[in-house]
Amino acid sequence: MRKTLSVSLLVSACLSMSAQTTYDPKTDELHLRDYAEMMGKYIGVCVPVGSMNIANDNDKYAQKIYTEFNAVVAENEMKMDALQPNQGQFNYGNGDKLVAFAKRHNMKVRGHTLCWHSQVPKWISEDGYQNNKNYTRANLLSILKRHITSVMRHYKGKVAEWDVVNETLDDNQWGVSLSNGKYNLRQSIWVKVIGEDFLDSAFTWAHRIDPDAKLYLNDYGADFYGGSKATAMYNLVKRMKDDGVPIDGVGLQCHLSSGDAVEGIAKNARFYKQKLGIDCIITELELKAGASTSANLSKQAEAYRKILEGFLTNPNAPTMMLWGIDDNHTWIEGDQNPLIFDKNLQPKPAYYSLLEAFHNGYVTDIHQPWAEYSASAAVDDAVYDISGRKVADSLEEFSADGNSGIFIHNHKKFIQR
Ligand code: G3I
Repeated sequence: MRKTLSVSLLVSACLSMSAQTTYDPKTDELHLRDYAEMMGKYIGVCVPVGSMNIANDNDKYAQKIYTEFNAVVAENEMKMDALQPNQGQFNYGNGDKLVAFAKRHNMKVRGHTLCWHSQVPKWISEDGYQNNKNYTRANLLSILKRHITSVMRHYKGKVAEWDVVNETLDDNQWGVSLSNGKYNLRQSIWVKVIGEDFLDSAFTWAHRIDPDAKLYLNDYGADFYGGSKATAMYNLVKRMKDDGVPIDGVGLQCHLSSGDAVEGIAKNARFYKQKLGIDCIITELELKAGASTSANLSKQAEAYRKILEGFLTNPNAPTMMLWGIDDNHTWIEGDQNPLIFDKNLQPKPAYYSLLEAFHNGYVTDIHQPWAEYSASAAVDDAVYDISGRKVADSLEEFSADGNSGIFIHNHKKFIQR
């Protein structure tokens, strides 16, 4: 059972934050989830429930998960093929095991995923594209509705949010732009047999069963603001919002490499907040580092830190999920070492950079002296510089151009490079 963060530990951690000592993440008694909880955020990890002994709280992987993370998602066990392997036969065992583990350790559960073209059971389609059973639109709508309503009923109140539809955009988004509002859908069985409105139905059915669950559209390759698939994803979600579809946000999978221009993720999140007022979360983060040389691991640590700093400054980015606990449990083939714990479950430089970014981002000794500060004070949305001068009325208005250094937004310090 994870002990709640003891007051003395929290006080000593805050004192160390406010004291002028040099912070060393390797001596920090706090864990990633402790900072996340203090900042109202979730940092989580995907769990291979079928092959990991999370029923045993003394298992080293289980312990690492509930000590460091406050959110979990099943890597494969809550996908369509796992939950309904045969028509009408639902298999909730592994999903229930994850829900029980999360409840024991006060963690949020993400559901992944109600509708996808991959890992579709064979009785629906051989490959997620072919209509082998010659289903009509009505047949497939009925199949999808039964799956979604059954799963949402079973997990109502236990799974806080769902990737309702995964990877519905085509990889080729040539010709799309914000001005023309276009997007190209993947020609999956769902699109070919039902049509685009399978999206509207899926979100609507999910919302009707569990109105409290947050509903996301999830995809890869749409992570950086300005990319063609990122533009297409925005255009699609805008169309859905304009049509009144109950969608709460987008999930950026973020299957990336250390050398990617990861600053584009935070810019994307700010764009979604500013234009649509919806969440933009990170759902499957890993950063391929290549071989475990110190240079590669340092570069990877720097990229993880940048992503977390951006995540902490965006109020519409409540959740950041890693796609794997350690480099022994990654779907990535080859010696890419993409995660924050090594093959021996030991913390890597990337882990310490996340801890330090959390530490630096958590403001304890700098309040907004220029406003009547109190814990209950309604924080405004303005951005101030470290001397207390207002530099922007909101985070959206805050322009990175010409601004670099430490700034404060909603009582939290952030670093603009
Ligand atoms: O369950 C079967 C098992 O019975 C069989 O013996 C074994 C060997 O063939 O395969 C097992 O199924 C594997 C499954 O994972 C469960 O372990 C599949 O072959 C394998 O392809 C599947 O890979 C998963 C992949 O999604 C499938 O597309 C990865 O673990 C999982 O990390 C990955 O996750 C996806 C997200 O869901 C969506 N975003 C992309 C991400 C990476 O592809």
